[in-house]
Amino acid sequence: MSKRVYAAFRSIGAYVPQKILTNADLEKMVDTTDEWITQRTGIKERHIAADDEYTSDMGAKAAALAIERAGLESSDIDLVVCATVTPDYFNMPSTACVISDKLGIKNVQAFDIAAACSGFVYALSVAKAFVESGMKKNVLIVGAEKFSSIVDWSDRATCILFGDGAGAAVISASDNEKEGIVDIHASADGSYADFLMTPSPGSVNPATKEALEQGLQYVKMKGNETFKLAVKTLTKDVQEILEANGLEGKDIPHFVPHQANYRIIKAVGDKLKMSEEQVVLTVHKYGNTSAASIPMAINDIYESGRLKSGELMLLDTFGGGLTWASALLPFAPNDK
Ligand code: UT7
Repeated sequence: MSKRVYAAFRSIGAYVPQKILTNADLEKMVDTTDEWITQRTGIKERHIAADDEYTSDMGAKAAALAIERAGLESSDIDLVVCATVTPDYFNMPSTACVISDKLGIKNVQAFDIAAACSGFVYALSVAKAFVESGMKKNVLIVGAEKFSSIVDWSDRATCILFGDGAGAAVISASDNEKEGIVDIHASADGSYADFLMTPSPGSVNPATKEALEQGLQYVKMKGNETFKLAVKTLTKDVQEILEANGLEGKDIPHFVPHQANYRIIKAVGDKLKMSEEQVVLTVHKYGNTSAASIPMAINDIYESGRLKSGELMLLDTFGGGLTWASALLPFAPNDK
C-alpha cells in the first residue's frame, strides 16, 4: 500500500511596493478625513505600485523569496497557481504564466484563480489537493494584486480601502502527518455577485468606449451590506472549522484574517475570545490587498520572528463572488 502524502506549508514570501499613500494624501484627493478612515476601517496607509510595476512583477518577487526560503530552486516547482482579480491581462495570458516566465519556471502547469480576497486560501486548497493526490510535489501559490489599477480614485467609498502587494508560499509533499495542512473550508454564493464587482471588461460589458466612459472597469462595492455579511459568515466559518477539528480559539497562536477592515477582524476575534497577541494585523499599513492580504500578513509574522516552526495558523477570508474560506495549518518549514 502506498504511504499517505501530506501537504506542508513550507515557506512564505511577500513584496510591498515602495510608494505609500497615506490618509492625509487621500484627504487631498476626495472628500474624506483621516479620522473617518481610521475609525471605520483601521487603515492609516497603503502601498501603491509604480505605473510600470505590474501584478506579475510583485508576484514574482514574493514567489522568488518563498522558493528560496523553502530551500528550493525554480526548477523544483511543478505547479504555479496565482490568485488575483487584477491580472496583468484580462484574460490571457494568465498572471501565473507570466510569473512562471519571470522566474524561469518552464513547461509547468500554471493558472489563475479568481476568488477575489479569498483567492489565496482557494489556491491553498488547490495546492493541498494536488499534493495529497500525488500529482504534484512542490506547488507555488501566489496572491498578487495591483488593486490600484481598478480603483476609481474619485470614489471615496472605495478608494480609501485598497492597496497593492503580493505574497507567496510553497506547499510541498511530506510524509510527516504533523506537517500537513489540517483542514480547509472554502465556499461561495453567487447570488450576492453584485455586492462586490468590476462590471467590465467581460462578455456582459465588453471594453467599449461607452463602458469605459461609464467607469464600469472600476470596483463597485455595497460596503455596508458586505460588511454585515462578512462578520456573520466569517464568525460562523471559523467556529465551524475549529469545532470540526476539536479546537478552540485559545489553541491558535496565529489567527490570520483577511485584512479588509479592523472592525470585521475585531468582531470575529472577539467571538473566538482571541487576545491581541493572537490576531495578526496589517490592515493599518497595507489596507485591503485582496488575494495578497493573507500571505502578506503571514510574511509579517514570519519576518518579525513571531511565526515558529510547527505553530498553528487559522486563516479566514471573505470577498467578491461572494466567496469565503478558512484554513487550519501548521507552519512547516524545511528545518533539515
Ligand atoms: O475585502 C472584501 C470584503 N470587503 C469588506 O469586507 C469591506 C466591507 N465594508 C466595509 O469595510 C465598510 O462598509 C466601509 C468601510 C466600506 C464603510 O463603512 P460603513 O460603516 O459601512 O459606512 P457606510 O458605507 O454605511 O457609510 C456611512 C457614511 C455615509 O454617509 P451618510 O449616508 O451616513 O451621510 C457615506 O457616504 O459615511 C460616508 N462615507 C464616507 N465619509 C467620509 C463613505 N465613505 C466615506 C469616506 N469618508 N471615505
